[in-house]
Amino acid sequence: MKKILTQELHLSLSADVPSISPKFFYDEIGSHLFDVITLLEEYYQTRTEKYIMDSYQGVIADAVGSCDVLLDLGAGNCAKAGRLFNSIKPRQYRALDISKEYLEAAVADLQKQFPHIDMQAQEIDLSLPLAFPDLQELRKIFFFPGSSIGNYDPKQADQFFINLANECNGNGGLLIGVDLVKDLDTLNHAYNDSLGVTAAFNLNILLNVNRITGSNFNIRDWEHYAFFNASQSRIEMHLRALSDVQVHLPGNGAEDQLISFSAGDLIHTENSYKYTQDHFIEKLGNAGFDHIHSWTDPQEHFLVCFANAKKMS
Ligand code: AVJ
Repeated sequence: MKKILTQELHLSLSADVPSISPKFFYDEIGSHLFDVITLLEEYYQTRTEKYIMDSYQGVIADAVGSCDVLLDLGAGNCAKAGRLFNSIKPRQYRALDISKEYLEAAVADLQKQFPHIDMQAQEIDLSLPLAFPDLQELRKIFFFPGSSIGNYDPKQADQFFINLANECNGNGGLLIGVDLVKDLDTLNHAYNDSLGVTAAFNLNILLNVNRITGSNFNIRDWEHYAFFNASQSRIEMHLRALSDVQVHLPGNGAEDQLISFSAGDLIHTENSYKYTQDHFIEKLGNAGFDHIHSWTDPQEHFLVCFANAKKMS
């Protein structure tokens, strides 16, 4: 895994528009910083999704129906899935995420609370196609909360939905949470919080890149920069160089690179797309889902959908 990730970073950091994939946020520190973000007043998403899931718990469980296996895509601390267990009652739970250590600890904790559910942790890169051949015959419910879908470009999101609909094999579906378009101030404050936690979260990606590749980014050379790009309907996060910087990127088998940045240069670290309800439901429909149920909060800040995989004809 490390070698592939290093190669990917070599390419993305030396591209015309330098970038680091947001999947690199979630090392141990990054995962904890994200947990803190979800507690912030300005970051409405997590508590609003929880409000929707709690308020409509019974209706959601009815829409979902029976669940042989709950596949938690980007499980993190597994808390969101854990809160569904009493209503959805999965026979098996499979937690999937990129940070193995963090994930295994979370699954072990959850297993103590739900000893009768068969649980497994699996290290996975969600930016690659997914396949679950060992679960073929089972009714699979994919769980993709927290608007993680916002990290995908709209076309990638469509591909991802098609992939999941196919994996369902005419049985099962997708329970997904997505952030909605809303006023500019609310959006911008959510990614420029007053405590600076999001800034720390963004900067920490450089420490993770250093750890993975052996590079020598100094986070004191960089600042957090986030804004809503209305024409693309997305929050963009970047790191901006505070001065001219050179970064050494060891090749790990391939060639070493020296990458130069001038003051003001950007490294793009994240897109977080925001959708309208109608458009999002339409996307799910086009990808091979139907009978799409959706729930929102009174302010319509966030949307939860359950989409049934179309029956095979
Ligand atoms: C986990 C992708 C939904 O886009 O809001 C939070 C990540 N980035 N603050 C988001 C994030 C900055 C988050 N997602």
